[in-house]
Amino acid sequence: MKVRLEKVVFNYDAVRVLDNVSVEFEGGRVSCLIGPNGSGKTTTLKLIASLIEPVEGVVYIDGKDLRTYSASEIAKLFSYSDPHLPKTLPMRVIDFILTSRYPFHRVFQYFESREDIEVIETVARELGVEHLLDRKLEQLSSGELQRVVLAASLARKPRILLLDEPSAFLDVRYRFEIMDIVKKYTEKYSVVTVVAMHDLYLASLYCDKVILLSKGKIVALGNPQEIFSSSSIEEVYGVRVETLRVDGSLVAAIPLPPHEKVSPDSLSQQNLKDS
Ligand SMILES: Nc1ncnc2c1ncn2[C@@H]1O[C@H](COP(=O)(O)OP(=O)(O)OP(=O)(O)O)[C@@H](O)[C@H]1O
Ligand SMILES: [Mg+2]
Repeated sequence: MKVRLEKVVFNYDAVRVLDNVSVEFEGGRVSCLIGPNGSGKTTTLKLIASLIEPVEGVVYIDGKDLRTYSASEIAKLFSYSDPHLPKTLPMRVIDFILTSRYPFHRVFQYFESREDIEVIETVARELGVEHLLDRKLEQLSSGELQRVVLAASLARKPRILLLDEPSAFLDVRYRFEIMDIVKKYTEKYSVVTVVAMHDLYLASLYCDKVILLSKGKIVALGNPQEIFSSSSIEEVYGVRVETLRVDGSLVAAIPLPPHEKVSPDSLSQQNLKDS
């Protein structure tokens, strides 16, 4: 399986948010979109998920224009979950995860199948949320909810897994665990996995390919070692980045504060000016 964006342009109203983006995402590899707030990561995921359409350019899935796929084909191929949505849904965790299985239900199938239950139990166990299945979504902590959202994504058994900041609310141990699960799932089933993330350290450990976006353009693309040892990260984010070797081979990226620090004095002067 392969996903390819060719010269993709996208605008929100008159504002260009993706500009001539060409990139390929291969099966069996975890590709990470990194870049500052507003650089176009979520927009890229939504374009691949077919939630929005390019103004110019084409998204290809296995060489075929995404616009030629039917809605039911798309639903079975992809899993993309809006990270902001689930908290507002008046649902139990188990019912939320079950909605991921709907594309596989037959017409007039009103109840879950034995397979649905087995899949849900397996992903819930893997993500450590089996004790939460009867709880309401609104009763979960942010990190618990995030693990439930990933469980729902995996329950669909997608061929293309799109994750928007899957680790933002997780504690340090779960950050590693969920990325381990995502990487193993990707490799085992040759899934195309694209993850938008802010955690550069996690990206350097788990991503096979890193795509650095800035203001809607790809400014660097390569394996983590190449990207994190170049000056691009520092230029794009305006922070310093320390790289170090982990387990002898990996290069981990640790962001450091910029050289020019904001002093308490300059802050209070700014506040005075603003008031
Ligand atoms: N529905 C929308 N209507 C208008 N503009 C939007 C909409 N969604 C996003 N944008 C704008 O498009 C640009 C890209 O947004 P996008 O959500 O892709 O960024 P991002 O890289 O995911 O950022 P973040 O790290 O903050 O999640 C931003 O300037 C944003 O303000
Ligand atoms: Mg985003």
